[in-house]
Amino acid sequence: MSLKERIQETRDFVLSSTSVRPSIGIVLGTGLGDLANYVEVETRLDYKEIPHFPYSTAPGHKGELLLGTLEGKQVVVMEGRFHYYEGWSLEQITYPIRVMKAIGVETLIISNAAGGLNPLFKAGDIMLIDDHINLMGVNPLIGPNDEELGPRFPDMSEPYSQQLIEVAEKVALEEKIPVKKGVYIAVTGPNLETRAEYRFFRIIGADAVGMSTVPEVIVGVHAGLKILGISVITDMCLPDALEPVSVEKIIATASASADKLLRLVKGVVRSI
Ligand code: HPA
Repeated sequence: MSLKERIQETRDFVLSSTSVRPSIGIVLGTGLGDLANYVEVETRLDYKEIPHFPYSTAPGHKGELLLGTLEGKQVVVMEGRFHYYEGWSLEQITYPIRVMKAIGVETLIISNAAGGLNPLFKAGDIMLIDDHINLMGVNPLIGPNDEELGPRFPDMSEPYSQQLIEVAEKVALEEKIPVKKGVYIAVTGPNLETRAEYRFFRIIGADAVGMSTVPEVIVGVHAGLKILGISVITDMCLPDALEPVSVEKIIATASASADKLLRLVKGVVRSI
């Protein structure tokens, strides 16, 4: 079955399971799942019951697709996302983004937990993603291209909508949430990185590092979605002052910042 046929099957399943017709899609990153508690959920679909969907094995991630309303807007929320290090292909990881597009999503809000490379950041900060570097060594668009899903050579001059960044900055100001802005670099993981790697990432222009988001954003751009990316800085990755960090600590820091992220996302959803 072709990718397009699978997407259509999943779309039909999702749309026949709910009356929600979302135009906004939200992806919740590591430790940020609490946000889902604020969505008025009409329909909750276990990833395992959705045809062709992968399911989540990463710590700090559930595995449910929520359809409902947030701030009066119809939304679809991925509670738990997929990572390359889990062994999924990039096509599988990004499949839910294709499905979001197919069920009517136009705006994608995507969050993650990331390590801070910019020395002016601190753990707990929120960073609006202004641009990214794909250092995963793979790309979800490799393979035959279906022109009906998107162009062979998608333009990447503005993967993150400057208009949405402006909206987020305005909300942040109103809500008194300090936000940073910067470049996210994606690596495969699952190990955290060495000091030499962090030094390299900083030299090539990154402000934060993580193991997700970029594949979804590439597919989102391919599909013509408007994208807002938000990183929660969970630990500082300063090569000359590096402290050991555990995934438990990363999840705890992300959870502690979840309230700020929620207020930001709610404000943006209200303004869209
Ligand atoms: N690398 C380092 N620190 C992190 C990461 C990462 O990928 N994600 C969250 N904190």
